Amino acid sequence: MKTIIEPFRIKSVEPIRMTTREEREALIREVHYNLFALHSDDVLIDLLTDSGTSAMSAAQWGAMMRGDESYAGSPSFYRFEQAVKALMPFAHIIPTHQGRAAEKILFAVAAKKGDLVPANTHFDTTRANVEATGAQAVDLPVKEALQPALEHPFKGNMDVEKLEALLAEHATRVPLVLMTITNNSGGGQPVSLANLQQVREVCNRYDKPLFLDACRFAENAYFIKQREAAYADFSIRDIVKEMFALADGMTMSAKKDALVNIGGWLALNNDAWAQQARNVLILTEGFPTYGGLAGRDLDAIAVGLDEVVDEDYLRYRIVSTQYLGEALTKMGVPIIRPVGGHAVYLDARALLPHIPPLQYPGQALAVALYETGGIRGCEIGSVMFGQQPDGAEKAAQLELVRLAIPRRVYTQSHVDYVIEVMEEVYRDRASLGGFEIAWQAPSLRHFTARFARFGT
Ligand code: F0G
Repeated sequence: MKTIIEPFRIKSVEPIRMTTREEREALIREVHYNLFALHSDDVLIDLLTDSGTSAMSAAQWGAMMRGDESYAGSPSFYRFEQAVKALMPFAHIIPTHQGRAAEKILFAVAAKKGDLVPANTHFDTTRANVEATGAQAVDLPVKEALQPALEHPFKGNMDVEKLEALLAEHATRVPLVLMTITNNSGGGQPVSLANLQQVREVCNRYDKPLFLDACRFAENAYFIKQREAAYADFSIRDIVKEMFALADGMTMSAKKDALVNIGGWLALNNDAWAQQARNVLILTEGFPTYGGLAGRDLDAIAVGLDEVVDEDYLRYRIVSTQYLGEALTKMGVPIIRPVGGHAVYLDARALLPHIPPLQYPGQALAVALYETGGIRGCEIGSVMFGQQPDGAEKAAQLELVRLAIPRRVYTQSHVDYVIEVMEEVYRDRASLGGFEIAWQAPSLRHFTARFARFGT
């Protein structure tokens, strides 16, 4: 059959509050055109993030009732630990309340002022946690990653020659090497096992540990099965095990590929680092058998990890993101190619060439999608990255709008609606104007900035 159905039925529903275009124009004006400031019940299709927005299964809700809330030694922890180790056999599994808490603890233990932390690309919280220690986060993506329209099966890969050169010059300053799978900031693009093996080999030569920022590990494994011939006949579980066998540790946001609404962990083999990490954990998150989580959250993760490596689920997941991306491509809408795992990234600079970068074409597109159809995406461009530490403004490398797809939440007709809304925005693109910033915070301005239409 051509139609790939959602491999689930819906048992519990949340109503969507319908709004008219006039209502949405007023609502977005009231919040000074900042989509983060909208009430989410004023949004029809919320594509702000795929993080923490998954629908849990009946089995996960059932497991939550089993959750044991003992402060220490809860059976929920042991079920969680066993589920993680079944896929990621690291010696120490340390729960945290979400991914950035695991990053904070890892870098507090492993990095210091003057260090360099190379990655294919750091996610923003990862970069911030590296920089908070005084170390420098160095991105080494392959050159293909910087060309949005270029087709390449593994745009998430690291440039191994650049890693080698960095280590040859600065080995003593590098505490670990990090790979983000899939590469969120690069468009949700996967990393191949061949690339992970090459990175491992370089790490071995310089005796450096390799860590995975593994939020979307299952989506990455599915891409490997589809695109890397040597693994076409492997099960997803076996590909996942191959990936983690190459690493010495990982950080995880369970809000993505563990199919839960909150949670994360740090896992590693180094006993001394693990001991220090648990000491920090007790100060900042909680006792080592609950981290920042309730016992019920740990049980939901244990079940989610089993569900996320199901091949039928992953086929539906990857195909539904591609369904949106391919429809937009057919329409002529420029996006990051090929379509990534968790999101479609619209190239606002190419779509709205009449709006200069510092009039924020991504913001213009995101606002138009909301006004036209109640869709909330996220600008990833000069609003997010243009503000410099000295207060100056610099255009970002790319002007993107991310449409991130929550897991198991929207059906194909929701996606068809998104395509129809985009059709209208695309048709009227020449009439869209830019924005200016009326007020901003000194850093991370995108969350709270107030905008005005340019020239008003
Ligand atoms: N690493 C990556 C690659 C991520 O995408 C995220 C979160 C984190 C780490 C941090 O995890 O949110 O649990 O603390 N990404 C979300 C997003 C916020 O919308 O892409 P967290």
